Amino acid sequence: MAGSLLTTADFAGLSVLIHGGAGGVGHFAIQFAKAKGAWVAMTVSASNKGFVSDLGADQVIDYRSEKFEDLVEAVDLVFDLIGGETQERSFSVIKPGGALISTLQEPDKGRAADQNIRVGRYTAQPNGAQLQEIADLIDEGKVKVVVANTFELREVAEAQAALKDKHLRGKVVLKIVG
Ligand SMILES: NC(=O)c1ccc[n+]([C@@H]2O[C@H](COP(=O)([O-])OP(=O)(O)OC[C@H]3O[C@@H](n4cnc5c(N)ncnc54)[C@H](OP(=O)(O)O)[C@@H]3O)[C@@H](O)[C@H]2O)c1
Repeated sequence: MAGSLLTTADFAGLSVLIHGGAGGVGHFAIQFAKAKGAWVAMTVSASNKGFVSDLGADQVIDYRSEKFEDLVEAVDLVFDLIGGETQERSFSVIKPGGALISTLQEPDKGRAADQNIRVGRYTAQPNGAQLQEIADLIDEGKVKVVVANTFELREVAEAQAALKDKHLRGKVVLKIVG
């Protein structure tokens, strides 16, 4: 279910809230959602507000000083890259018939049934057709690839440590060819 929701060809008119929008996954998620025609709100820290606005965010909320549930109108989809209490609080901002998809833990199915929303844990799967579509978006300049850090293969331990930082802007790249 989660996979089919996230690969829906036409997001036009849908509203989406992405938590953790400045990171490796989030900075792509905002751009894919915008490319598909969605309206997108994001939670980030203050230093990343300009960054995600430049990527196309329609509403940006500083999760450290603001409560997203006080600021965002009910949305069709929450894409949760944070989990925990951020995920729990997200139930209150989803329209009936909407969805909560997390890359971390499976959201509460009982609560979802009570609210008539769909929930799922999304796990990335290799998919040639989707990768081609993404490559085309990058070639057309519609999606930017933001690299936080690049490491040589011999620096794999440093790359792993950087991933644990949790406050990255964009992706960590490990070079496996010279
Ligand atoms: N299931 C899967 O297939 C799959 C695939 C990839 C990743 N993941 C998981 O998905 C999560 C995100 O991955 P990632 O690679 O994007 O992580 P990441 O690059 O480490 O980015 C995390 C981002 O979250 C932001 N952040 C931290 N606390 C936050 C909060 N309370 N509210 C909103 N934003 C917050 C940070 O931004 P600030 O600096 O602005 O705080 C940072 O930009 C990770 O837990 C990862 O393990 C799962």
